[in-house]
Amino acid sequence: MKGLFITFEGTEGSGKSTQIALLEERLLAAGHVVQMLREPGGTPIGEEIRHTLKHSEFNRGMKPETELLLMNAARAQLVREVIRPALDAGEVVLCDRFYDSTLAYQGYGRGLDLKWVQTIVDFAVGDIRPDITLLLTVPVSISEARRLARQPLLISVPATKSPRTPKLGFIRDRMEEADRAFFERVEEGYQAIAGADKKRIKPIDGTQSVDKVTEEIWAQVSRLL
Ligand code: TMP
Repeated sequence: MKGLFITFEGTEGSGKSTQIALLEERLLAAGHVVQMLREPGGTPIGEEIRHTLKHSEFNRGMKPETELLLMNAARAQLVREVIRPALDAGEVVLCDRFYDSTLAYQGYGRGLDLKWVQTIVDFAVGDIRPDITLLLTVPVSISEARRLARQPLLISVPATKSPRTPKLGFIRDRMEEADRAFFERVEEGYQAIAGADKKRIKPIDGTQSVDKVTEEIWAQVSRLL
């Protein structure tokens, strides 16, 4: 594979979306071909699954095991339809979340057996692994305040992604309905995952100014280009 695969991780409200957009701009300006993706989603099938996971009016009874499988069904599609071909073509792939989210949310957060979670993830991704993962960290209290401030959320998505996703509207998000203890476990999970793979995962203090975070990210990414 000739391309570069960069993933962003962090809890809700950690500033990922802002930073990923700024990094895309900078990479495009430097002449790279960039794929900007999000998980769950990033393909028409994946966006349908995202809708089921987050916004469907029928998703209230979803079990953690179902959540795990749906996250990875979307991922399996994204890897084969977009990520692998893009990397083979030498492009830079930016992904807002990837399998570390599954370990943190379904493993640590929902309490599913980490070995099972890893097995399902391995099946979904095959041989695709991020070259670098930027983990934006913010205290749970800040993340919670930002999360609550944007519920319900006003979203705008490209019309082509999924016929079922509203173009503009107020929507509830099942994932954001979890309690504080869940998000504390997710954050602890991220710390544990980052501690176990310091070579790939680069924690960045998300409470710093946007500019400072942008520069730290660029320092990490530019040495890989
Ligand atoms: P977001 O795109 O706004 O970050 O929403 C995605 C939600 O899905 C977020 O709450 C994190 C969650 N998630 C998981 O629980 N497991 C996963 O594997 C992924 C990719 C996301």
